[in-house]
Amino acid sequence: MIRSVVRGIGSALPRRIMKNTDFEGVLETSDEWIAQRTGIRQRHIASDDETTASLGEAAARAALDNAGLTPADIDLIVLATSTPNNTFPATAVEIQNRLGMHHGFAFDMQAVCSGFVYAVATADLYIRGGLARRVLVIGSETFSRILDWTDRSTCVLFGDGAGALILEAQEGEGTIADRGVLAASLRSDGVHKDKLYVDGGPSTTGTVGLLRMEGREVFKHAVGMITDVIEATFSQAGITAEDLDWFVPHQANKRIIDASARKLGIADEKVVVTVNLHGNTSAASVPLALAVAVADGRVKKGDLVLLEAMGGGFTWGAVLLRW
Ligand code: ACO
Repeated sequence: MIRSVVRGIGSALPRRIMKNTDFEGVLETSDEWIAQRTGIRQRHIASDDETTASLGEAAARAALDNAGLTPADIDLIVLATSTPNNTFPATAVEIQNRLGMHHGFAFDMQAVCSGFVYAVATADLYIRGGLARRVLVIGSETFSRILDWTDRSTCVLFGDGAGALILEAQEGEGTIADRGVLAASLRSDGVHKDKLYVDGGPSTTGTVGLLRMEGREVFKHAVGMITDVIEATFSQAGITAEDLDWFVPHQANKRIIDASARKLGIADEKVVVTVNLHGNTSAASVPLALAVAVADGRVKKGDLVLLEAMGGGFTWGAVLLRW
């Protein structure tokens, strides 16, 4: 059977680093409060010349270099983002143009922090359905542009960045030993839409709006939703937590990551954590974390890797793949 195998990975971060201490004196907060509650120490913040499209393009170029491919080799670009450059056209199309790619097709996916997991699962279907042979899957965000910088309960949590994977059709045996995407589970439930949302939009206020979150409410649901969707993915693949080599969760909060891993029985040393460095970069967080763990030699060819995310909507999901 056809499998969607990872051929390359890349990432890009804005030049400017903002440390927790940079908030002190501006807002009533402290490095200690932020680090204790979230694990975040710093985040990257886009300058005026850095956008979701430019960061996405940089991550895409890094992934192409990593794969030894050029834009001519790509059939489809799927961009996961909630902070597009414009309401339309899709920022994926802008990235396609920036890459000098005038064949194939490109579209955006919007599932907030779960966007990258949704995009990988979608790209896998395009590949297995024979509609694309190589897909560039990008998560790119500039959440700094939709933050209320006077609200200490949200603005300290998020950062900007981008990550990209190239998935390629390869022949597999149809077993769990295959490389590539092996299982995926996606969920959403709009009953939770008021717990994490942006208070504007083209069809309502005619403005872009700012992020609003009931953090404690999100926290309350997060661990249960994450562990349920991961257990569904394990049973689809016929594996247990012990079979995993790496767990690459959405990087929103170290306490949510730790509690989820503990509940699932995933050992600490198998969990990739970058929330300390990047903050919550929404759809970019999983590929950014993955890129770090690949670059430092932790994730190697043949490793069994679990990706997971949960975000606004709520949306949540997991993807199991063999590197
Ligand atoms: N500095 C200092 N004090 C603060 C800050 C801050 N930055 N932010 C809030 N506080 C205060 C609050 O005002 C509150 O004060 P009060 O008790 O006098 O009212 C107190 O700290 C406790 O606030 P809580 O919200 O109860 O703090 P909690 O321990 O729940 O931590 C946090 C807050 C970090 C937001 C946590 O709830 C959380 O991580 N929630 C999940 C958020 C999340 O994962 N979101 C991303 C989902 S992904 C996506 O789709 C974007």
